[in-house]
Parts: sequence; C-alpha cells; structure tokens
Amino acid sequence: MERATASSGHLPVMYAQVLDGLRIVGDGAYLDGTFGRGGHARGVLAQLGPGGRLLVMDKDPEAIAVAEREFGADPRVAIFRGSFAALAGWEATAAGLDGVLFDLGVSSPQLDVAERGFSFGKDGPLDMRMDPDSGESAAQWLARADEREIADVLWTYGEERQSRRIARAIVADREATPLLRTAQLAELIARVMPRGDSKSDKGRIHPATRSFQAIRIFINRELADLELGLEAAMARLKPGGRLAVISFHSLEDRIVKRFIGARAKAPPANRRMPVERAFTPSLRAIGGAIKAGDDETAANPRARSAVLRVAEKLEGEA
Ligand SMILES: C[S@@+](CC[C@H](N)C(=O)[O-])C[C@H]1O[C@@H](n2cnc3c(N)ncnc32)[C@H](O)[C@@H]1O
Repeated sequence: MERATASSGHLPVMYAQVLDGLRIVGDGAYLDGTFGRGGHARGVLAQLGPGGRLLVMDKDPEAIAVAEREFGADPRVAIFRGSFAALAGWEATAAGLDGVLFDLGVSSPQLDVAERGFSFGKDGPLDMRMDPDSGESAAQWLARADEREIADVLWTYGEERQSRRIARAIVADREATPLLRTAQLAELIARVMPRGDSKSDKGRIHPATRSFQAIRIFINRELADLELGLEAAMARLKPGGRLAVISFHSLEDRIVKRFIGARAKAPPANRRMPVERAFTPSLRAIGGAIKAGDDETAANPRARSAVLRVAEKLEGEA
C-alpha cells in the first residue's frame, strides 16, 4: 500500500493499519472526522471507485481550506467544518457509513504555527483553539478562572503533580501582567516547578508539556467531543461498518477502550443483580491496541504515543 507523503506538513500515523482496519470497499461511504492535512483521507479516496463517498470534517478552518482546495471538485467528496461530535446531524451521513475514522488531537501544522498558540516551544498568542471562531481562548480562560479550577484542569487532563503550585502562580502573576503569550506561560511553569519535577520521569520533556496538553484538552472540550463522537459514529455506522480511532494519551484511549468493550463484551456477572439481563453485542473489537512499528516511530515522533483501536458494528441495537 503506497504511503501518503508529508508534503502537507503532517505525516499520517499508522497509515497502512488505518486503511486495513477500515477495510474499504470501492462503493462505500467513509467519514474522516479529523481531516487535518488529509493524509488518511487521501488514502481512503484512492481506494474508492466512482460510486464511493468520502465525508470529511474538521473544526479547524485551515484544515477545511486544504480539503476544499484539494478535494472540493471531486463529486465523491463532501466537506463540513465542525466537530465530529455532531456528525450524526450532518445530512450527508444520514444514508449510513461504512467506516469512520477519528485521528485525535492536534496536527503538526497546528503545533508548528506559533500564531495558533498550541506550542510552548514557539512564542505566540495563548490561544489553543482548534476552531479559533468559537469558545474561549486559553488566555481568556486563564484570565478569569479561579485557582481551584485551573489546578483541577491541570491535574485532570495533564496529570500534572504540581497543578496547585502552577495554578497559584498563574493567579498571582496575572494580577500584575495578563498572561497573553505561550512563552510567558511556559516560563512561568518552568520557574515554579521544583527542581526534581522540572523534567519528566524519563528526564526528557519540557516542564510545561503536561500543562499545555491539559489546557488544550480543556479549551477544545476534547474528551466530551470524543464521547459524543463515538456515540454519533455508532448511530451512523451500518452493520459491518468499521470504526477506527487513534488516541495519543491514556485519557483518550481509556474512553475508546471502554466504549468498545462495553458494546463488545457482556458485563461480568453481578451477585446483586439476580436476574441476568440479556446482552446483545453491538460491536466486535478487531484486535486490541495497535501501536506503530519501530520504523514509523523513528521517522515520526508523534507516532510513539499513538494507539489505534478498530471495531466493527454488528447487527442489532446501537
Ligand atoms: C491528528 S490531526 C489529523 C491528521 C490527519 N489524519 C492527517 O493525516 O492529516 C487532528 C485533526 O483533527 C481536528 N480535530 C480534533 N478534534 C476534532 C473534533 N472534535 N472535531 C473535528 N475536528 C477535530 C484537528 O483540528 C486536527 O486538524
């Protein structure tokens, strides 16, 4: 299988495994809920015949502009800017889908452009919104949230052990100087981090890594969107249709694993529930957690933390 190139600045993760997992049929309908720069979408389209359909979504206007430019003229392709959480509300999905892909998180171009405000390594406005036209930016939220809320977000979505210390410093500093730039926040975190904690367990990551991840997940409501997106995909998949999800951290993967597990396997017997409820599986897990191979992780550091899960919808209830 020919692999997509990185000409667009984003190397698709586990490209061959995703396309295998979706088990594409030429006249099927497939939805890529996270178009990014189209690495996976391009691969799906290459396997579709004239009767096939490719529906693409992204929250990010720049991703959608790329999709319009590259695929806008192809009658098999439909494009929608918005969250995959709302995919079932998009009319184009009403006829049912043979496959749904979510390749979660941010794309390389989002991280690389300082103006998007995702990166602690590149100074830019503290924004972090995948959709810059909706919701609060990171700067707006950090200006109004109280110390407890900030600490909770850093702890819940970043597992940052110094969450309280960082939150206290943010609230103290913002009195004098509003936090408006990514470099300001990264420096603040590096300053307050105790020596032993200023690096990761493996001693390699920047002290702001976990906090930036946490704020990004919170600002973009990533976990809530994922839960809604999985439900919506389930509602629109046809029997035999495939769901493929790539996660980049354990919070996401736990949601995907539980979602599939709860629909694929009967819950363990419960002594307090004497009458056994009939369980009809609505999904079949296709293998377990799939990881990128050594060659890919050597070439693309983003692939190191990626986990792909694939499931097939069964006949019966969603
Ligand atoms: C990892 S990239 C996808 C890369 C893509 N598979 C490729 O090969 O180019 C994730 C993309 O999904 C988008 N995204 C993340 N969460 C989303 C959501 N809930 N709804 C729609 N788009 C989302 C981001 O804006 C970003 O462009």
